[in-house]
Amino acid sequence: MDIWTVVHFLHLLAMAFFIGGQIMLAGVLVPILKGKDEMKAVAKRFGLGSLIALGVLILTGVQMAGHEDAWGDGNLQAKLVILAVLILTIGYHVHTATKRWLDPVIFVLSLAVMGLGVVLAH
Ligand code: HEM
Repeated sequence: MDIWTVVHFLHLLAMAFFIGGQIMLAGVLVPILKGKDEMKAVAKRFGLGSLIALGVLILTGVQMAGHEDAWGDGNLQAKLVILAVLILTIGYHVHTATKRWLDPVIFVLSLAVMGLGVVLAH
């Protein structure tokens, strides 16, 4: 196992938290905790976790893109444009806090970034 296997592993681990956490939140926690005080604390904690996961994704992604000389790849460029829109949308979501319709938008953008990642790796 070389260092790039570890970097790839960390990229996938952070992706699992980032995407899986959204599914867990929407599918399990929101239906149970909607309107309760705990929901705010759960959302805050997941927000912090997501921020860390996003940091790991960017850090490991930049390393892999450099290692694989992939910066000229159209799929990576499309992935980064969608990622930029995703980050702006998350920022707006955190800023406004009440716009629930942004949740599915963030989820779809996240899936698009993930999908382009899978295309990149194959
Ligand atoms: C929300 C952010 C991100 C998500 C959800 C994500 C997700 C993924 C996924 C699912 C893969 C496929 C891995 C596999 O099939 O084994 C992947 C691969 C890859 N990602 Fe990301 N990624 C993100 C951010 C980034 C960033 C910011 C960069 C670069 C600046 C990047 C660069 C790459 C590269 C180069 C690969 C290909 C790795 C390989 O060929 O083995 N990713 N990503």
